[in-house]
This record gives sequence, structure tokens and C-alpha cells, in this order.
Amino acid sequence: MTRKAPVLALDQLIDDRRTRIIVCCGSGGVGKTTLAAAVGLRAAERGRHVVVLTVDPARRLAQSMGLSSLDNTPRPVPGVQAGGRDDERGEPGRAGSMHAMMLDMKRTFDEIVEAHADPDRAAQILANPFYQSLSSSFSGTQEYMAMEKLGQLRRADEWDLIVVDTPPSRSALDFLDAPARLGRLLDGRLIRVLMVPARAGGRAYMKVLSAGFGMVTGVLTKVLGAQVLRDAQTFVSALDTMFGGFRERAEHTYQLLQAPGTAFVVIAAPEPDALREASYFVERLADERMPLAGLVINRVHRSAASRLSAARSLAAAENLDGTRYPLAAAALRLHADLTQLQARERRLAEHFTSAHPAVPVTEVPALAEDVHDLNGLRVIGRHLTA
Ligand SMILES: Nc1ncnc2c1ncn2[C@@H]1O[C@H](COP(=O)(O)OP(=O)(O)O)[C@@H](O)[C@H]1O
Ligand SMILES: [Mg+2]
Repeated sequence: MTRKAPVLALDQLIDDRRTRIIVCCGSGGVGKTTLAAAVGLRAAERGRHVVVLTVDPARRLAQSMGLSSLDNTPRPVPGVQAGGRDDERGEPGRAGSMHAMMLDMKRTFDEIVEAHADPDRAAQILANPFYQSLSSSFSGTQEYMAMEKLGQLRRADEWDLIVVDTPPSRSALDFLDAPARLGRLLDGRLIRVLMVPARAGGRAYMKVLSAGFGMVTGVLTKVLGAQVLRDAQTFVSALDTMFGGFRERAEHTYQLLQAPGTAFVVIAAPEPDALREASYFVERLADERMPLAGLVINRVHRSAASRLSAARSLAAAENLDGTRYPLAAAALRLHADLTQLQARERRLAEHFTSAHPAVPVTEVPALAEDVHDLNGLRVIGRHLTA
């Protein structure tokens, strides 16, 4: 017997005023950005004041939300309508509002520097090539900055719901790991490495430094020379006003993510890798005591003629082979493929549920075309909550 997963009730989640942050996470390409925007729009049209923090929206989707450039500031989304929701007192539904922004990770990093160092020092840091490569190419910077931005939006207190899309990393766990990693780099390891006296001269020093730089991207390693070393040292001494800051901020954001008003929505494609990743993520959230709302399986396949089995469909196709009905035979074979695909997807979903029986699940079908405007987002929103 197969177990049935509880249903993820997204409307209940977005209508609950106590929900303040929804984080959409999952592995690359599963639909995080699309779903974050769809959840945000639906919540706005049901009366909430929403800001959606997107990381890498496709161009047309961004344009449809009124985002034309990467300016790191929430912009109002035109076209939000009242959803017609009747609230508890029976009043007609009132539209809330929606803002959206695209994360600019370098700009966010710069703003932290500007906020924490006096103008001269800030200018010195910003001009530093070492800083420039760290702020634009360190492999955890985007995740860290997404969290940083989330903290800023929460502190601004202008919205009653923040929906966060997460960076396009391969692994969903990067989002949770990167801030601590970057915090460690900036607060501890890097500093200690740079404080090693250059007594043995260039070569030995370089060795120590490269060991410490294991996690910094190849770009930096490639250009690592005497000049960069000097830059790194000035960077560090200029940055000392901010020491402790980074780790502290990362910890703050972690607390925000553990707070009762936060809900994680894990997104996966109906494929083994994505669901395995979702499984890890769900376990990790439990370890971190971070509140999980549930799993969305996005882009599932559904067939209009679900009562015709794959086997019968194939048999019928074979009967038609060599007749005057090649198109019908092809359609039957297509139907057989689709039915088998559906069965495989169902098995994968059941596999997830048998491992995590308490995790609520909902499914969104694969639409015929990409989601690139508010109407497309509304369609996704309706499926999400159907
Ligand atoms: N249910 C769906 N049906 C059809 N296309 C979808 C669906 N969900 C997402 N897409 C499309 O898939 C692509 C990747 O989605 P995106 O949200 O950018 O993924 P991610 O942010 O996880 O990398 C986009 O082109 C989007 O329009
Ligand atoms: Mg994305």
C-alpha cells in the first residue's frame, strides 16, 4: 500500500498574517524563481503587501514584473489585481500590493561596506582589486548576499510578507551553508593567513596564502601576484572595522530563518536527482530547526485520457501499424510514453513520501509554455493551491 502525503495548503499559508517570510529553495532549474514570483503575486492579490526578492529571473519574466535593470531596489509590480477573496468578515477581497527586485550581489556587498566604514575607508575598500574579485566571484557570495538582503528587507518593515527566491546553485544546501562559510573566511581564516609575517619571502608566503585560499575562485588564484597580496593586506586592514560583523549578521539571518513566521517551500522536479536533493534539504531543515511548509513537485506530466493504460495504448498502436492510420498509431504511442512517464513520476513522489511521510506535498503540472507574464504566474498560483 502506498502512503498518501498530506496536502500543502499554500493559500492557508499566505493568508495567515503570521507568515512573514517564505523561502523558495531547491536545486538548479526546478522553478524556484517562477514559483517565488507566483506565490508573491497570489499573496498580493489576496490582500498581502508583498516583496519578492528574485535572484536570476528570466528576462521576460523580469520585464513583466516591471524590472528592467539590476538596481537592487524593490520596484512596484504593475497589474496586481484584487483576487476577489472574501475575508472572515465577508468583505469583498481587496488587493494588496507587490514589489519585486533582482538581487545585485556586488551592490549589496558594497552597501554593507559603505554602511560600516567611514567614507575614506569605504572608498579604499571598494577600489581594492582584491575586494572587487571577492565581491563578484567568491562562490558563496550570492547566497550570502541573498540572506543579507533578506535581513535588510525584514528590517525595513515595509512589507508584511517577503518571498525569497534562492540563487541558482547546483545544490539547495548551498543557500544555508554559504553564509557561514563566507563568515568564516572573512572573520577568521583569511585574516590569520594574511597576518602570517612574510618572513620567508615571496614563495613560502604564497604557499601559505594559497592553502588558505583553497575556497576562493580560480580567477583570484590566476592573478595572485605581489600586487594582489598587497591589495589583500590593505583590504584586510581596512576591513578590520567590520570584523565580527559578518559572522554576526549571518547568525542573525539564521535566527530569522528559524523564526515561527518563516516557511520554507522546497521545490523539486519529478526526477530522481531533484527529489534526492529535496530529501537532503528537508532533513537539513529539521536539523537546523527551520520551519518547513512542504514540497512542491513542479512540472509534473498529466494526461487527458488517464483511463487508457500504456499497455492497451501500445497494443492498439501495433494493431494500427501498416494501416492507413499512421497518425493515430503515433498518437497512441505518445500516449503510452506519457502514461509511463506519469507512472514513473508518481513512483518518485511516493518514494519521497515514504521517506518523509509528514511533509505536505503539492504538484504543479508542466505547462505548455514558459511562464513569462503575470497571467502565467496566476495560472501557476492556481495550480499551486488547487
Ligand atoms: N510548471 C511549469 N511549466 C512550464 N514551464 C515552467 C514551469 N515552471 C517553471 N517553468 C519554466 O522553467 C524555466 C526555469 O524556471 P526557473 O523558475 O527560472 O527555475 P530556477 O529558478 O529554479 O532555476 C523557466 O523558463 C520557467 O518559465
Ligand atoms: Mg532562479
